[in-house]
Amino acid sequence: MAAIEVNGLTKVFRTYRKEPGLIGAIKGLFHRKYELVRAVDQISFKIEVGELVGFLGPNGAGKTTTLKMLSGLLYPTSGTARVLGFVPWERHDAYRRVFALVLGQKNQLWWDLPAVESLELNAKIYGVSRAQLNRTMAELGELLGVRDKFSIPVRELSLGERMKMELIAALLHQPKVLFLDEPTIGLDVVSQKVVREFIREYNARHKTTILLTSHYMTDIQELCRRVIIIDHGRIIFDGQLDAIVDQFADFKLVTIHYALGASCSAERLAGYGELIEHNPASAVLKVKRDRVISVCKALLDELPVSDIDIQEVPIEEVIRKIFAR
Ligand SMILES: Nc1ncnc2c1ncn2[C@@H]1O[C@H](COP(=O)(O)OP(=O)(O)OP(=O)(O)O)[C@@H](O)[C@H]1O
Ligand SMILES: [Mg+2]
Repeated sequence: MAAIEVNGLTKVFRTYRKEPGLIGAIKGLFHRKYELVRAVDQISFKIEVGELVGFLGPNGAGKTTTLKMLSGLLYPTSGTARVLGFVPWERHDAYRRVFALVLGQKNQLWWDLPAVESLELNAKIYGVSRAQLNRTMAELGELLGVRDKFSIPVRELSLGERMKMELIAALLHQPKVLFLDEPTIGLDVVSQKVVREFIREYNARHKTTILLTSHYMTDIQELCRRVIIIDHGRIIFDGQLDAIVDQFADFKLVTIHYALGASCSAERLAGYGELIEHNPASAVLKVKRDRVISVCKALLDELPVSDIDIQEVPIEEVIRKIFAR
């Protein structure tokens, strides 16, 4: 059985549209104008037990709305979903015990209390024993490097430390499915890396099924082999991250290194492809995929070139292009 199975899931928000000015406000009292926002539009996917899948999309694509439905915080307008066999929005107590949702943009710990007190409270709510609480705090505190921060009031922790505490709080009851909505947002690069590595390690150790959103491509590239891309509420890609490059990048980047003391004019290089970068010792050309071999051959034959590198266009750029469509 798949850990997560979603079929035709749809969420339409009905929002009240205000007309500008006083007259608009008065008119609004009598004829409310509603606008329908299709935040999530007929999405379907399946995630197997233990998979770590990246959920990507531009701002407003419908990622958080989807995760909220899968966590039972929102009712869908239509469609179905099962997570570990549960219909999330039926909010079974047993479901609450097997999943967790972490919202990077939202603080779920008590602001004025030391983190440990929030953790103790969570342990009580979820029926986690004192022994397991201690074990988890030791294990995860160690992995995240916050073992000595548990007694500091949450509001005094740094953003990164707070996020780490949020993760520990969410994992106390050892959920089998974990929804992570931008767990690294706003963190400095070092904390981002720690959190990223923690997620990878946790997934490997506990075989937790994880659906993760992030606007940082490093997170996605280092953690997820599979990605689901959503735009305007619809899934536009679901597959291996590598395949994105094959499917969407029509170009490769060809870097030439000049032989000692030699170089070429930009005009001359432009005849081989789009000139992206030009230095005294090297140049980067963007070349159509199907022309790469013949172009490299010509470059070697015709220019004072000592070395050639061929690279894929960075995934980040490819994804930006997909979103732009
Ligand atoms: N409670 C709500 N009422 C009305 N519209 C909403 C509500 N929540 C979300 N929306 C709209 O639904 C759409 C999807 O929002 P959502 O938060 O799911 O996007 P997202 O993919 O998480 O974006 P981001 O990357 O910015 O976090 C947006 O157009 C948003 O304005
Ligand atoms: Mg969001």
